[in-house]
Amino acid sequence: FTEPKIAPSILSADFMNMEKDIREIEEGGAAFIHVDVMDGHFVPNLTLGVPFVAGLKRIANIPLDVHLMISNPLEQLPWYLEHQPDFVTVHFESLDEAAGEVDKAVDMIHDAGCKAAIALKPDCDVEVLRPYISKLEMVLIMSVYPGFSGQSYIEGSDQRVAAVAAMAREAGVDPLIEVDGGLSVNDPTRLVAAAGADVLVAGSGCFKAADRGAAIQAIKATAAK
Ligand code: DX5
Ligand code: ZN
Repeated sequence: FTEPKIAPSILSADFMNMEKDIREIEEGGAAFIHVDVMDGHFVPNLTLGVPFVAGLKRIANIPLDVHLMISNPLEQLPWYLEHQPDFVTVHFESLDEAAGEVDKAVDMIHDAGCKAAIALKPDCDVEVLRPYISKLEMVLIMSVYPGFSGQSYIEGSDQRVAAVAAMAREAGVDPLIEVDGGLSVNDPTRLVAAAGADVLVAGSGCFKAADRGAAIQAIKATAAK
């Protein structure tokens, strides 16, 4: 068992005190800063975009993990890649697989020198990952429908994590498996960690706590149970 990495989602941070909140999670043991980009089209909510990512990159001391919930990612990817986020995640559902767009997106991310991940919504069959698993640094399994923080974990998401872990093992590769949505000091965190999750996203579970460092450590401890 390796201790999972915690990636606080800054969607739940205070946008008017972002640098302060980022220092708190950096000092509190966060592994990555999870950045939820939503365009009001691929998902109903509208959050933050390219200038915000550029600003974060300037001040962050730990890797940026940019989760793109946008339509037409091929068009917009270069704008984000220019700012060199460490991990860039695109949604499988936002790409036209038959037109080769999944490969194209992953190649664009790699050509920019960044690490690539594909995200799946809760109702997307994990089998779609099989052709791509060997070229990904990370897979993102959504445990809520993307769009909002503070939602409840969808039961059975841990089985999807286990299926991805098995698929990676069969392929002889070891991408990070990230899980996003509804994780805090709760049973879902324990379940997904036991199923093989390496990176746990926590939005409200981290930032709604008065002591963010303590919240991060408590989530890690929960995952180890
Ligand atoms: C949902 C986002 C999540 C969200 C997590 O669409 O991708 O990253 O901010 O928030 P919590 O941890 O509160 O579910
Ligand atoms: Zn996210």
